[in-house]
Amino acid sequence: STSEPIRLEDHIRDIPDFPQKGVLFKDITPLLQDAKAFHAALDRIAAHYAGAGIEAVVGVESRGFIIGAPLAYLLNCGFVPVRKFGKLPAETSSVEYALEYGTNVVEVHTDAIKPGQRVLVVDDLLATGGTVLAAIELVERLGGHIAGISFLVELGFLKGRERLEGRDVFALIKY
Ligand code: PRP
Ligand code: MG
Repeated sequence: STSEPIRLEDHIRDIPDFPQKGVLFKDITPLLQDAKAFHAALDRIAAHYAGAGIEAVVGVESRGFIIGAPLAYLLNCGFVPVRKFGKLPAETSSVEYALEYGTNVVEVHTDAIKPGQRVLVVDDLLATGGTVLAAIELVERLGGHIAGISFLVELGFLKGRERLEGRDVFALIKY
């Protein structure tokens, strides 16, 4: 066959000055809308965790849901949403984290993670790491074990990986 492996980075679009001047935004929507690229990206993340005994995938609202739910399906485990404040109906645990300007609060249902459960935390993109650290805090507070942390895209120059210390971080595309 003459088919070549899909280059995922060819499906990430640069948008200058979004959401503000001086920022080069990495837009994943071209990857999502290309069936082969989206499929390949999910298959590659799932392959990385094959045999890792993942029991739950946690995704962070909202772009983390786009990656997390199909990944949970591929890994044959459940999906747990970490949502922005006020969206989850049952008992929640919440954590505040810093954004570039101001703070945000995310929550998880307290019965969504069982003590000792092996959890894969996913998001579309690792920047400063603040968002994923908030999700990790929630999972660990409920007794979950972080078995992996995964992203489509890592912005290495923002040093998020350093804030995740010695944890197992996997990113498909790095800038
Ligand atoms: C974006 C992105 C990650 C986060 C990465 O989410 O989807 O979740 O920022 O940044 P960090 O590593 O510095 O925390 P955003 O808060 O823009 O919300 P969205 O997913 O709802 O678009
Ligand atoms: Mg997000």
